[in-house]
Amino acid sequence: MATVSLTPQVVFSTESGGALSSATILRFPPNFVRQLSTKARRNCSNIGVAQIVAAAWSDRPAARPNSGGGGGGRARGVASSHAAAASAAAVAASAAAEVSAIPNAKVAQPSAVVQAERKLLGSDASLAVHAGERLGRRIATDAITTPVVNTSAYWFNNSQELIDFKEGRHASFEYGRYGNPTTEALEKKMSALEKAESTVFVASGMYAAVAMLSALVPAGGHIVTTTDCYRKTRIYMENELPKRGVSMTVIRPADMDALQNALDNNNVSLFFTETPTNPFLRCIDVELVANMCHSKGALLCIDSTFASPINQKALTLGADLVIHSATKYIAGHNDVIGGCVSGRDELVSKVRIYHHVVGGVLNPNAAYLILRGMKTLHLRVQCQNNTAMRMAQFLEEHPKIARVYYPGLPSHPEHHIAKTQMTGFGGVVSFEVAGDFDGTRRFIDSVKIPYHAPSFGGCESIIDQPAIMSYWDSKEQRDIYGIKDNLIRFSIGVEDFEDLKNDLVQALEKV
Ligand SMILES: Cc1ncc(COP(=O)(O)O)c(C=O)c1O
Repeated sequence: MATVSLTPQVVFSTESGGALSSATILRFPPNFVRQLSTKARRNCSNIGVAQIVAAAWSDRPAARPNSGGGGGGRARGVASSHAAAASAAAVAASAAAEVSAIPNAKVAQPSAVVQAERKLLGSDASLAVHAGERLGRRIATDAITTPVVNTSAYWFNNSQELIDFKEGRHASFEYGRYGNPTTEALEKKMSALEKAESTVFVASGMYAAVAMLSALVPAGGHIVTTTDCYRKTRIYMENELPKRGVSMTVIRPADMDALQNALDNNNVSLFFTETPTNPFLRCIDVELVANMCHSKGALLCIDSTFASPINQKALTLGADLVIHSATKYIAGHNDVIGGCVSGRDELVSKVRIYHHVVGGVLNPNAAYLILRGMKTLHLRVQCQNNTAMRMAQFLEEHPKIARVYYPGLPSHPEHHIAKTQMTGFGGVVSFEVAGDFDGTRRFIDSVKIPYHAPSFGGCESIIDQPAIMSYWDSKEQRDIYGIKDNLIRFSIGVEDFEDLKNDLVQALEKV
């Protein structure tokens, strides 16, 4: 008898046209009532709900091993309702024939769910809206949105269940630092968009970098990085890594000879670079550097924050790991801080294990905000790509602008690389105004729509003068890294292009 999975929670026969077959033998779980959802308990006369619950329980296979990556809890595995089943049926119908064995949610095998999801959701747009939630969600609810599970710990029915958990026969999270169902849904969505086997979400983009470097670079190891990057990342690498005996070669973004030299003369563990970089939006040829690194046994980690997974999928180009400051495009609303590391399970597991010990946990409420933000990631990024491209072209022609840095412009030194490895050039345009420190300051103080603030990637446009915002404390560092007094970083939001342009035009008159 063929079976069709509507959700991981609900499995029933096709031969009865969507109803339970009379041949189905229902076994009732011992804690049957507790496992019903609130709605199901209210409608306890509804035998259909009971049938679904019982059928799901009856069908459950053995628990997947506790890999440390989280798993389903007791309530996650069973309760559902007609509403959930009916709505799931509509979406799952086309995939159902091939996806005949999505297991019970309590013990869901992510690969089966993920496979089903990726078959059903063919594009970034559908993945951004539904991945991690439509089929694979382990939280029992008929709500469209993934609930925020505010808990610090998870309980066990008895010692045997705990022992089963410890030995990998019962899936749970045990403790909030080790995982959370809301965060897990977010991790799945991110993995789907980055085409990653696994993702770990953490409290900030900085901590994502720190956890990745701590877990994957051994004491005494050597890393390579680039001159142009987020300043705090550089400060961490310069000040903290030497305490573990980790040394570093810093290369200019386009200097492939310097990279080869560093790989030839050191036992390099990892090359860590942004692309595009902060603030000059330099682009590194991911495929090329992946090959160079791999031939020397080094890993490649790309900070893809400026690109977002909509514009660039570095794992598919050969990178081993991708990190994001989810604070930026991923969450997209300037209202939450978070970060993530995506890549092969073998590598991400090491980061996860480190993170489970050290902490840096993403709060479940923050996870929800990021999950919600991601549903419009593709729309926001497409809008930001378009407006930024038009803005870069407009600024390049403006007499009060000395230079524009935008990978979409043919004048950009890595335009040829950006064109081949990105599907859009992002929402940040950096430029130098034709003026001195004070003229630039007058310009930035005159813009009325963008906020004068740090950060980028959100719905609200943000503008800043890096000489003040990020480098005020060190003229020496400004000189080393080419941060001129007249440099502006402009993060374009989702406002109208003409409104933003008119605002800049009036502000440029003050230079
Ligand atoms: C490229 C890049 N990576 C990482 C970070 C750090 O992220 P977070 O602020 O979420 O810690 C930033 C912050 O601006 C950034 O620009």
